Amino acid sequence: MEVSEVAPAGSGPVNIPLCPGAVTSCCPLKRAWIYSGPEHTKRGVIRNCDRIDVRMFRFSLDRATDNPLPMNTMTAPPAPKGHFLLGHLPRMRNQPLEFMTECARLHGDFVHLRVANIDAYLLSHPDLVEEVLVTSNRNFIKPRLLREAGAVLGNGLLTSEGDFWLRQRRLMQPAFHRDRIASYGVTMVDLTREMLAGWHDGETMDIHEEMMRLTLGIVAKTLFGADVVQHAEDFGAALEVALQRFIERMGFMRLLDALPLPRNRRFKRAIGRLDEIIYGIIAERRENGDGSGDLLSLLLGAQDEDGSRMTDLQLRDEAITLFLAGHETTAIALSWTLYLLSLNPGAEARLVEELEEVLKGREPRMDDMATLQYTDRVVRESMRLFPPAWRVGREAAVDCEIGGYHIGAGAQLIMSQWVIQRDPRFFDDPEAFRPERWDDDLARRLPRFAYFPFGGGARRCIGDGFAMMEATLLLASIVQRFHLSLVPDQSIVPFPSITMRPKYGIRMTLKRR
Ligand code: HEM
Repeated sequence: MEVSEVAPAGSGPVNIPLCPGAVTSCCPLKRAWIYSGPEHTKRGVIRNCDRIDVRMFRFSLDRATDNPLPMNTMTAPPAPKGHFLLGHLPRMRNQPLEFMTECARLHGDFVHLRVANIDAYLLSHPDLVEEVLVTSNRNFIKPRLLREAGAVLGNGLLTSEGDFWLRQRRLMQPAFHRDRIASYGVTMVDLTREMLAGWHDGETMDIHEEMMRLTLGIVAKTLFGADVVQHAEDFGAALEVALQRFIERMGFMRLLDALPLPRNRRFKRAIGRLDEIIYGIIAERRENGDGSGDLLSLLLGAQDEDGSRMTDLQLRDEAITLFLAGHETTAIALSWTLYLLSLNPGAEARLVEELEEVLKGREPRMDDMATLQYTDRVVRESMRLFPPAWRVGREAAVDCEIGGYHIGAGAQLIMSQWVIQRDPRFFDDPEAFRPERWDDDLARRLPRFAYFPFGGGARRCIGDGFAMMEATLLLASIVQRFHLSLVPDQSIVPFPSITMRPKYGIRMTLKRR
């Protein structure tokens, strides 16, 4: 079939004769119809096609193909050049931030990647993110990479799917209710005070390590009760070893997992230790009850409509998930925030001014949150530039369509906060740290997913309110008492793995105010 047979431009609705097996489509901007023959050998573009009736076109396509798809698009999105065998794996693995930014800026909002033998798409427009996370979310499940972390996290809230996930989310939601979170504020400030009591003028420390220790203690105490705090460090260390396997290889070398290598033995030992601690805590709590309303007691007491309760295995999976998701991300947010403040003395001065004005020397409290507006903006802006979760992934569970493109079941979709939140179409001077850009309700003026550090849709972070309160109270407590400056001659590099921590930590010198 010749392209010229297909559509006299501007002739209104036409019935298009298609040969069996042909695929025909409209480009996403609806500026051109594209025709490919059965073996994709023929391709032609008809201009001015926006005058062709799309419904009529779909109808023809459905009738003409053996395997009709309810869509009008089969064009391939642009794809950067990759290795003949590994595709884009080397760059995705070695320089994901640079590579993804380059893909988005050079090739557009919808880019086709091949990661070894896996099809992946990088979506870099807020509307596409909304389509995946909200409008068409039923077509997607969590990505392959996260499923692999299931070896550590089990079937917890982050990794579970379907009805099981929904039931668990409903059971756990009350523990993250505003009023409940408010009661955690006191613990957050208490533990920060204890940490600051150990800080000395002129001392140098890795601020990221310090933040990890603090946030781990906070999750342990607020969500699992005082009895867990004694195990927090041990637990954190085992969790780190267990996750190292995913951090190191990002899921591409599963064959090695079965071999008796030292790192596999370390992994098994770490999982064993995690289980031992968690099951110990669960058994103790089942025996002694109470827990004064922390998350663990809520989970233990939670009943489904049919009266069933969570098994120990479910409790273990949810506990490990919350430990992991609940401490590292906030620690990372705080570490990058303190780093950015040290590079931007003007922003630090304005922050100190607000703290003096609002707090007048006393410690911050939950009810200061509404008044600590600049503090809130500092945290927001820091998470824009250095999002602790730097990408959200999904896998297509079925053949579907996104942004006018056909996505085959099994394809991986990547939506990166790092890329979109630094996009000059949405943020002026995007690389600059400017907390005041959030004045005048910028958040409301932006497209919904131009800024999405906590993801969105049904799977939005359950701990977003917890994290924002924690980051604000901790930052206020620290900056109120100490000025932190960067130790010179160190390499500060974001390390994008599951989260985006500073690769070599951030060494800072303390100066009491
Ligand atoms: C700055 C801190 C945090 C950031 C940036 C963050 C980011 C995220 C993101 C992007 C997701 C969505 C993942 C996806 O859609 O695939 C998520 C989910 C989740 N987060 Fe957070 N998070 C933070 C703090 C917390 C805290 C403090 C907790 C708990 C105490 C928590 C628990 C969870 C859980 C359980 C999920 C899975 C929710 C579900 O699928 O229903 N997060 N988080």
